[in-house]
Amino acid sequence: MTNKLKYFIGNWKMFGDFSSFKIIQEVNKYISKSKNLGKKKIVLCVPNTLIHFYKKKLRSKLISLGAQNCHFHEGYGAFTGSVSATMLKRLGAEYIILGHSENRLEGETNQIIKKKIISSLNQKLKVIFCIGETFNEKKNGKTYSILRNQIKSSLQNKFNKNKIILAYEPVWSIGTNKIPKMNELENIIKFIKKDFKLFFKTSNAPKVLYGGSVNPKNIKSLSSISEIDGFLIGGASQSSKKFIDIIENYYK
Ligand code: 13P
Repeated sequence: MTNKLKYFIGNWKMFGDFSSFKIIQEVNKYISKSKNLGKKKIVLCVPNTLIHFYKKKLRSKLISLGAQNCHFHEGYGAFTGSVSATMLKRLGAEYIILGHSENRLEGETNQIIKKKIISSLNQKLKVIFCIGETFNEKKNGKTYSILRNQIKSSLQNKFNKNKIILAYEPVWSIGTNKIPKMNELENIIKFIKKDFKLFFKTSNAPKVLYGGSVNPKNIKSLSSISEIDGFLIGGASQSSKKFIDIIENYYK
């Protein structure tokens, strides 16, 4: 078993209400019992409507809460319907997902994502920065150039890169039950780490997660890629059983 820190991060997307706290309770019960498994960090990124309520109920330090997006403007402002990193931090979020393809699809650009990263880092939120190519981009052999461009356009050398976790989420893999071929995925994760180090002239490789149709069955093969630092789990994180089985099977 690996003793490197691994992240299991749930992205609930537009799911959940107050009663869904039972999912977190179940996960918490499991985590408290399974401390002897490898070193791991569990984060659940839930809708904004639930962060404060869950934070108050969750006495455990074993699970952190995160948000899924924010407006780029820090503090308060005339942005109807929006929520800033400042507000999310005050609710109790420790992490924030930014650059998710579902938001990119609605018009979020690399430049907007950069501004969101800046305001989130200012608010001492840890950023889970999503990158990934579409099916067409993959078909046209553009995966590597897309990833490079997404990283270079949204990150800056002056950022505190220890507070940024990258998540490679191929768009074609999200919610489709399709995952990349293991050798391709391994090469992509290695490329992201190497390119990041070269670009930012650092010897520290970033943490890179994989996300896209992760489930209790495919986690075993994904666990063979030691360069993957953890997983960003969508649909399967909405069920305590599936989320726990993913962690359990990872360490089997
Ligand atoms: P699924 O696990 O449902 O494919 O979603 C992945 C995702 O978008 C996580 O951010």
